[in-house]
This record gives sequence, structure tokens and C-alpha cells, in this order.
Amino acid sequence: MQETGRAGESALWNPFANMAALAGRAITIVRGEGSTVFAADGTAYLDAIASLWYCNVGYGRTELAEAAAEQMRRLAGFQIFEYYTNQPAEALCHRVAGLAPMPGAKVILTPGGGSDAVDTAGKLARAYWRAVGQPSRQIIISRSHAYHGMNAYGTSLGGIPLLTEAFAPLVSQVEQVPWDDPAALEKTIELAGDGRVAAFFCEPVIGAGGVYPPPDGYLAAVREICRRHDVLFVADEVITGYGRTGEWFASGRFGLDPDLITSAKGLSSGYLPIGAVIASARVAEPFWRAGSAEVFRHGYTYSGHPAAAAVALANLDLIEREGLVARVRELEQVLAGALAPLAGHELVGAVRSGTGLLGAVEIAEDARTADPQIGQKLVLAIRARGVLTRLLRGVALQVSPPFVITTEEIGRVAEAFAGALDDVAGEAGR
Ligand SMILES: Cc1ncc(COP(=O)(O)O)c(C=O)c1O
Repeated sequence: MQETGRAGESALWNPFANMAALAGRAITIVRGEGSTVFAADGTAYLDAIASLWYCNVGYGRTELAEAAAEQMRRLAGFQIFEYYTNQPAEALCHRVAGLAPMPGAKVILTPGGGSDAVDTAGKLARAYWRAVGQPSRQIIISRSHAYHGMNAYGTSLGGIPLLTEAFAPLVSQVEQVPWDDPAALEKTIELAGDGRVAAFFCEPVIGAGGVYPPPDGYLAAVREICRRHDVLFVADEVITGYGRTGEWFASGRFGLDPDLITSAKGLSSGYLPIGAVIASARVAEPFWRAGSAEVFRHGYTYSGHPAAAAVALANLDLIEREGLVARVRELEQVLAGALAPLAGHELVGAVRSGTGLLGAVEIAEDARTADPQIGQKLVLAIRARGVLTRLLRGVALQVSPPFVITTEEIGRVAEAFAGALDDVAGEAGR
């Protein structure tokens, strides 16, 4: 298989890439169809990760392109600060509020991806407490293995040391607790002191940290602790939102009743960038109450962008019309069944799956110690077999396909993983 390098000297600085090593080896993706993307040299890749967990409706959906074109011909962009609004943004917020498992929710649209949503939610949590007369509630707690994006709040809350240690502390008053330990959360809240903690940020299923479904009873326990200490519960559903766990929101699947939800990715399936913070009636109340003078002084130039909102609406239409959330539920056990046998391989430490179309194949610790490059070798060996995956936190291979993936394609993903594990084990002379 030939890799398609970039012509001449590239000026594109890729995220998370060693640019010295990438020179001449980048793969140019030119088009997609269903769960498959094609490189400039014609090579087809089955995309087991839906780009970066987002292309839920699959590639090549012309109706989303048409929704964008139609809106852009009428009004491509116009700001929504202060007095202005537009129809797609209004309709989208109404729709998202209706889908969210929180009655009376209000929706703040963000223009980029999940990082904008996370920073918005972090600021809103603190602004809420100030608005209700408890300005000393400033501390925000997150979990080890957590990934909350790359902006200031997200970087500060991140629980993956490699992604945070190169930067000075950005946001003050953040604390971290082990990802699976409700008692540690309670102890941290108590140690902080009465009325000091603003919010707990929680991915219902940890994603970029390695795909960890919640341990039995974990989410119910932390939700209850937050309620008892009056700490806002923020469900970061940037990955899990809009169907990936087989419900519109993982908060619905796990009965979380969150105070805030952060979302992005699947809102538009990535056809245009857009995110949303969904605020419960409780959090919205001090800002929306008749006669209130409280203003959330936060927003972005492209908040409520009409073209992006029109695409998101068309994406939600499509998910509904094709019953894709139910499809995820049906495929949950198909994916789990396909990945399970990989657990027996000598290079595999664990296989995690069973919550929607989310899975991870963790590389055995001894194999990683023996060869720190083994994860990237596996990614390349799987790609050589025509399937795209990536390495999470240096330890696990990601599986998060588009919702339109077929049972046969899921089988091909598992086969490529199995074959690549054998290839790499063979090369290592194991
Ligand atoms: C849970 C979670 N929060 C936030 C983000 C940041 O989103 P973005 O990269 O779109 O800014 C991500 C991205 O993967 C995520 O998985």
C-alpha cells in the first residue's frame, strides 16, 4: 500500500504530530462514503473511529451539504450577540433542549468543538454560583484519565499527564480524583470545605483516556454525592452525546439528571464545526428569571452560526429518520462480541466495550514495557490491513465507528486487529 505524501514542503502543522517524523508520510484523505474514507492514491480505509469520534452518520451525506448550501445562499453567517438571532440557531436549540434528559433546558451554542463547550460550561458553573450568591464556590473537580479538550479549562481539567504537564496551570482551583473512586470525590469536596466546590466534570464513558465504561454503580454514587454537597454535575458528552451509547445522551442511559451537558462532535457529525452546552432549568434560572439583571458575559464570534446550525438540524433529522440511535443499541453487542476474542491475544491486556459503539483494545503492559513503540506499530499494522484506528493515552486502540457501520464491517475491523496483533507479535519474535 502506497502512502500519499504531501507535495513539496508542507506548511501544515498537524495536531499531536511529530512534524520531523511526519515529513513525506502524511496520508491525504480526499473523500468518504459510508464508513469508508479514500486516500488520494485511491486506497480505501474502513474508519473504525469515525474520524475523531464524530462522523456518526457516515461519510458522503449529500443532504447535509445541501442543508449548508441552502442556508449559506440565504444567510451564511450573522452574529447572535445581544439582540440578534437566526432561525436555524433557534430551531436547533429547541430541538436539542427537547432531546436532552433535563426538562426546561436552555442551550448555548458554541462554534468550535467540545473544547469551546467545556470552557463555556466551566465559566457558566462559576457564574451560576456567583449569580445565586455563593461566589466562593470556585473549585472544579475532574477525574484521572479524563479528556475535556484543549482550551484553558479543558487542559487544566485533563487527567492525561502527557497532555497537561507541558503547560503551566491555566485555570486555578481545579482538583483531580481517581476516575473510579466515588469516596475520593466526596473526600475532596469535604476537604475543600463547605461551599467551595462549584462543579464536578464527568465523562459518562471516559473516551480519549482509553474508553472506560463506568464501573457498576459509579455514576449513581458520584451523582448522589454531588447532589448531597450541592455541587453541579457536568456530564461531558462531547463523545457520548447524540446517540453513541444507544440513547440520545449517556446521561439518559445512566439516569444522571445533569446540571450541565457539554456536547459537540455528533451534533453535526462533524459536517461543520458546532457544539452545545445544555443548561438545566436550575442553572438557567438566575439568568432567565423575569426581571433578573444577571448576564452571562461569554460568547464567540461564531456562536449560533446559521450554516453550522442548519447542518446540525439536518444531521439530527437524519439520525431520527434512519433510526440510528436504535441501531447503535442493536450493534452494541455485535461490536462487543467481535472484539471479545482479542482479549485472548498475548499482546492484549484488556478489551473494553459494551456501552454503545465504543470500544478499546488495551495493549498488555509487559508488551508496552518491552517495546514502547508497540502501540504505534499496531496502529500502522492495522492500517496496512485497511482499517483506521488510533492509540489512546499510549495504551489502548480506539474503536468508535460511524453508526452506519455494518455487521460485516465490524467483523472486518476485528479481523484487521487480530491480524495486526499476530503480525506485530511475529515481528517481535514472541
Ligand atoms: C469528552 C471530550 N470533551 C471535550 C473534547 C474536546 O473537543 P474538541 O476536540 O472538539 O474541541 C473531546 C474531544 O475529543 C472529548 O472527547
